[in-house]
Amino acid sequence: MTKPTLTAAWAQAWAILQQAIADDRSPLRFVTLATVDANHAPQLRSVVLRELDAEAATLYIFTDARSHKVAELGKNNAVSLHLWAPDHLIQLRLSGQAQISSGTPIRDHWDTVPDHMREAYGHVPSPGTKIATPDAWEVRPDIQNFAKITLILSHIDIVCLSRDGHWRVEFLRENNWKGDWLSP
Ligand SMILES: Cc1cc2nc3c(=O)[nH]c(=O)nc-3n(C[C@H](O)[C@H](O)[C@H](O)COP(=O)(O)O)c2cc1C
Repeated sequence: MTKPTLTAAWAQAWAILQQAIADDRSPLRFVTLATVDANHAPQLRSVVLRELDAEAATLYIFTDARSHKVAELGKNNAVSLHLWAPDHLIQLRLSGQAQISSGTPIRDHWDTVPDHMREAYGHVPSPGTKIATPDAWEVRPDIQNFAKITLILSHIDIVCLSRDGHWRVEFLRENNWKGDWLSP
């Protein structure tokens, strides 16, 4: 049974994340973002992974500044992200703290968003508001609604369920991302 080195496991995790961002058609782009709500309950939703910085171990996604997730992160910035990469038989669990920036300070990002995609940041009334009928909302894209969530990772847990042998490893920022094998 061939197992990767810690260095190879780390590199594979970042290669999967890079693949998720680089390929517009890859299902890997759609990851699950977890926050904690005001009742301390976990909240999950699909989001698109937009960018990463492997050196800094940060990732970011775009969202609507008025969304529930942004309000939740404003009260508790603990965040986790889950991704299953079936071609690699690898699960990634990435946890850390979120930082939010929005509006004109992130105009550089807004400028990269095509017009039809900007609609995602202009639903009126705001996302999650009760409406009388399914169509009782409209689209008014506005840079003020545009937010970037930066995930500053502190913990990466990788599980591989390969037939060649299962393995699991965790990397902690507080250990300088040294890495430790875990029982899978
Ligand atoms: C395939 C898919 C991709 C999505 N991508 C995003 C995204 O990149 N950003 C985002 O804010 N919401 C995205 N959504 C919508 C969220 O899953 C969610 O419904 C919305 O953001 C409201 O979540 P909240 O109420 O927890 O804030 C996506 C939904 C799907 C089904």
